[in-house]
Amino acid sequence: MTATAIIGDIFTLVDDPAVVGAQDAHRYIPNGILLVEDGHIAAVGKRNELEPNLSEGTKLIDHTGALITPGFIDTHIHFPQIDMIASYGEQLLDWLENYTFPAEAQYADEAHAADAAQFFIRELLRNGTTSALVYGSVHAGAVDALFEEAHKHNMRLVAGKSLMDRNVPYDVRDTAESGDADSRWLADKWHGKGRLGYAVTPRFAPACSDEQLTRAGQMLQDYDGLLMHTHLSENTAEIDWVKELYPDASGYLDAYARFGLLTDRCVFAHCVHLSGEEFQRMGEAGAAIAYCPTSNLFLGSGLFHLKEAEKYGITVGMGTDVGAGTSFSMLQTLNEAYKIGQLRGNKLNPFKSFYLATLGGAKALHMADKVGSLEVGKEADFLVYNMAATPLLARRLKHCKTIEETLFVLSILGDDRCIAETWIAGNGHYKKG
Ligand code: GUN
Ligand code: ZN
Repeated sequence: MTATAIIGDIFTLVDDPAVVGAQDAHRYIPNGILLVEDGHIAAVGKRNELEPNLSEGTKLIDHTGALITPGFIDTHIHFPQIDMIASYGEQLLDWLENYTFPAEAQYADEAHAADAAQFFIRELLRNGTTSALVYGSVHAGAVDALFEEAHKHNMRLVAGKSLMDRNVPYDVRDTAESGDADSRWLADKWHGKGRLGYAVTPRFAPACSDEQLTRAGQMLQDYDGLLMHTHLSENTAEIDWVKELYPDASGYLDAYARFGLLTDRCVFAHCVHLSGEEFQRMGEAGAAIAYCPTSNLFLGSGLFHLKEAEKYGITVGMGTDVGAGTSFSMLQTLNEAYKIGQLRGNKLNPFKSFYLATLGGAKALHMADKVGSLEVGKEADFLVYNMAATPLLARRLKHCKTIEETLFVLSILGDDRCIAETWIAGNGHYKKG
């Protein structure tokens, strides 16, 4: 088995800076070596200590001066929204009706879905995203095409077909029975295959009948290791609608909880308008939040309270939420998260930012034992950065005196252009140019 030693400035979070403090939460090894064997990290350390002991035949790849971090983990993104991203002028409910559902209806066509799957996976890799929790369209065939493409790249990716049997146009509607059967067919085919996983994916409470949510709760129990992925408390008109549709529920979160859809396997996107009690209940259940800053700003949904989530010990990861989100780039997503922190009066520390985009996301998706940090034994999903991706970035980075400052500048000025290479399980799957 040949080993590969990648030389560079290795940075990883190993814990939550908000819990253990920024200094204990990270590891930084300038001029280090990341040793990869059999798809896993075999060693991480200083070059001058590791290099003399490398076994004969180890391939050396020299990225001296370049930052190396874990791959990004996108905890909420929509596969069928790449043709209507950046659609003008609406908030959530009209945006769904006018732009989103018509675009998703096109995914009934398997050739369209297969072409889009290739584009989508390539775009993730180009932006340095190595794992994601992905919403499909309502169509099983389209989600099958997405899994097929992710499998080709050996990605650790979780996806599901969208369950939506009411209050949506007929060409993107399933039934409680067909949605359940299609979800089970996809889970039987792909859950646990290679590095893939399945998520039961109710669109959002307004688009799912009681029977559909009951079946979703049942499916979550019937399989080992599934996730549940949905939207929660994103927009005030949406929340009012949920109150009308679920008059017996104590709130939006309760509308899911009463169907068995509030467990530690559940990932809720947005959560912009949760009450204190809802935050607390979510924390007690061990559920996770996908924080989607570019989307929350683009649709005018509101400003997420990261500090509240921290207060209740809730696991949080970052989501791009393409196509309500405006970029596949996790760096751009962190940029907007920083600005939301400023508006909320909370400084988002760059160590915390990169934690949310890597290990925090891995925890939210229950894959932190495998990915999310550069530690011995983990799968070797990592990025090599181009530190001179733009003239401005090259100039600004020269003035950085600490890794903290470098990370901050990358998260504000950086985007896909900063990702020179994306490695998946020890193999290069994207190289710029
Ligand atoms: N709520 C229900 N569906 C969607 C969607 O596609 N995007 C966002 N941002 N929110 C939703
Ligand atoms: Zn979404």
